[in-house]
Amino acid sequence: MSTALYTEHLAHVLRGTETALATSGFEAAVFPYGSYRSKSRYDDQDFPFRAAPHAEYVLPLGEPDAVLVVRPGRAPALFRRAQTSFWEKPAPFAHGWMLESFEVRTFDDAETLLAAVVTLAGEKAAVVGEDATVARRFPNEHRDPTAVVTALHELRTRKTAWEIEALAVAGARAAAGHRAVAEAFFAGRRSELDLHLVYLAATAQDDSETPYKNIVALGRNASILHHIAYGRTATEDRSLLVDAGAPHAGYGSDITRTWVRRDRAGAAAAWADLVGAIGRMQLALIAAATPGVDYEALHDSCHQQLATILVEHRLAKGAPEALVTSGVTRAFFPHGLGHHLGLQTHDVAGKPRPPRPENRYLRNTRTIENGQVFTIEPGLYFIEALLEPLRKTPAGEQVLWAEVERLSPFGGVRIEDNIAIVEGAPRNLTRSAIPQGDGSGL
Ligand code: GLY
Ligand code: MN
Ligand code: MN
Repeated sequence: MSTALYTEHLAHVLRGTETALATSGFEAAVFPYGSYRSKSRYDDQDFPFRAAPHAEYVLPLGEPDAVLVVRPGRAPALFRRAQTSFWEKPAPFAHGWMLESFEVRTFDDAETLLAAVVTLAGEKAAVVGEDATVARRFPNEHRDPTAVVTALHELRTRKTAWEIEALAVAGARAAAGHRAVAEAFFAGRRSELDLHLVYLAATAQDDSETPYKNIVALGRNASILHHIAYGRTATEDRSLLVDAGAPHAGYGSDITRTWVRRDRAGAAAAWADLVGAIGRMQLALIAAATPGVDYEALHDSCHQQLATILVEHRLAKGAPEALVTSGVTRAFFPHGLGHHLGLQTHDVAGKPRPPRPENRYLRNTRTIENGQVFTIEPGLYFIEALLEPLRKTPAGEQVLWAEVERLSPFGGVRIEDNIAIVEGAPRNLTRSAIPQGDGSGL
């Protein structure tokens, strides 16, 4: 990735921070990276470290106990701890060249570091982040001031070219894992745990480094939207859903593929046809994701198209419109069409207003704009907890239950890509590196 793009990104973030400070009466911003958090006060183990996104936005250092101070018109300052412990050491920073834009100061102990941060930041500093150790050095009304936080989150909804490239690299890295898992699945019976480990090895990730816990689901487990209790035994299941990403420079991809081992004319063939239909619908939704379109309208359009698919694949009968209004499509597709993506998997500020009540799990209610990056991830699942109650209502009469039962062993399908809006058009960051089609092969 180019140094010029990062330099441009940094200038943009510093300008945005300065504007946020100026409009809210602050003169400096303090961004702590955070510290290790103890798993229990009766033990000495910590949770894996996750750096605060507010600091990572400026510099993706990922280092515990570091703190950034941004002051208008000055080079940003980075305060780091000297790594003197003989117990452990953080991994070296992979993008050392970025430090050239910072005034770097290194301290032997936390107390001296914090005192220096407070001195440099001055009396009119806003501290943004969740690190209580740093925040308590500042007056209450200086901690996460709403005006500053809101402005910075708003800034993060329109990615710089550097961020889009980081997300593309994160997508390419995850693609290698998805391909390896698909190859292992098509080669023979494997357990979910096995496939999860194949993914980690192929992407050179430790489990704690993945942007979110991998979802690896064989057969009926694909109906559990966040299935992370990996089965330990190889099964005869013919379907596999993998929802997994990878990080790059603090940014994370979020990709789902659904694979199926076809049979000649049996249920697996019908399932692959359905996977193919969801895949085509997903591509049509991506093509429609252009500036000015309301993301919630896209989600509504997904329900309309899903209703037609249910009828065409003999899972339901009647007018597609009626399947939407009666709530049938929501029983098959209960989650949102997607969410903003960036330093956080469910990135901040994607939902400036709540969705309509029937779309309650939708995490993106913005109007699409240039620079946004979001997922498009429609799905269709056989979730007993939603279908059983539906069966007992009049709307349940629209469902063709015999076909639902025949396909239920495949669990569900979800197809998820990461989309950047660049110069008025959607750019799919993840599809070409991992084909999907009807899921019956790579
Ligand atoms: N992997 C979580 C999601 O797709 O939102
Ligand atoms: Mn997602
Ligand atoms: Mn996902």
